[in-house]
Amino acid sequence: TKPFQVAIDGPAASGKSTTAKLVAQRLGFDYIDTGAFYRCITFATLSKGIDPSDSNNNHQISDIAERSVIQLQTVFAEPPPAFNNGQPSSSLSTRSFLLPTTRVFLNSKDVSSDIRTGIVSKHVSAVAAIGNVREAVLQKVRNLGATDAHVKGPNDSKNDNNNSNSGLAAKLSTPKGLVMDGRDIGTVVLPHADLKVFLVADSRVRAERRLQELIMNAADSTELQGQLDVEAVQKDLERRDELDRTRKVSPLRKAEDAMELDTSNLTIEEQVDAIVQEALHRQ
Ligand code: C5P
Repeated sequence: TKPFQVAIDGPAASGKSTTAKLVAQRLGFDYIDTGAFYRCITFATLSKGIDPSDSNNNHQISDIAERSVIQLQTVFAEPPPAFNNGQPSSSLSTRSFLLPTTRVFLNSKDVSSDIRTGIVSKHVSAVAAIGNVREAVLQKVRNLGATDAHVKGPNDSKNDNNNSNSGLAAKLSTPKGLVMDGRDIGTVVLPHADLKVFLVADSRVRAERRLQELIMNAADSTELQGQLDVEAVQKDLERRDELDRTRKVSPLRKAEDAMELDTSNLTIEEQVDAIVQEALHRQ
């Protein structure tokens, strides 16, 4: 049977991946980060010394996209007792401790941190605008969403697919549903998703959240020099929104049947809760 599909789209720094991971955790669903696919292809391209900003290289980049084997593995935390009786905790330390983590493998190599570097972020939008690259990613991620195929890491036993003689293994490797996040999930990748969510937030709020994230992730304060200007971050987000909204192939837009959620004045728990309630309602 087809798993229950939740599509989450929205502009940069709207909280998609954090929200999507926590929704997946609450519902016991798989999580698929489609941005990671574009990031892997960008990383592979840069590693080969190919310049993604030169459109003469589009053919070569599309080739890389088709050939890359990309796998995700999300490790979920145990749900906190507070979540079980409907009283989610808002404590920051509890929250970061419980946030699921996704490991990303490119041709069996763990590239989880390589794909989050500044240089990859800088070039990923150009790579994601190449039609044949989008087609290749579509093939890869749609297969994950349309069937009950589990997202596997390279070390998972091949026998997992043949689970006829192990009821428990069958249950564990067949998720009830999946949450996928990106820019075109509700419009292109999973047009028949059971629940589509379009996250929006004021660009100033998103800039402030992005700054918080930079501060939390920085190894030391020298790394942050010159980055702590909220106006500059806001301008950069607005520039990327514009690029994603106006590109020719699969631009960022809200699907007609998507539920729009403005998170400007919501806590992460409140936005996760709103989506979980809606999913439970429709299941
Ligand atoms: O979500 P994340 O920031 O990792 O995505 C990286 C980039 O990949 C985005 O800026 C966007 O250009 C592209 N992307 C896309 N379609 C998706 C997911 C990501 O074009 N479904």
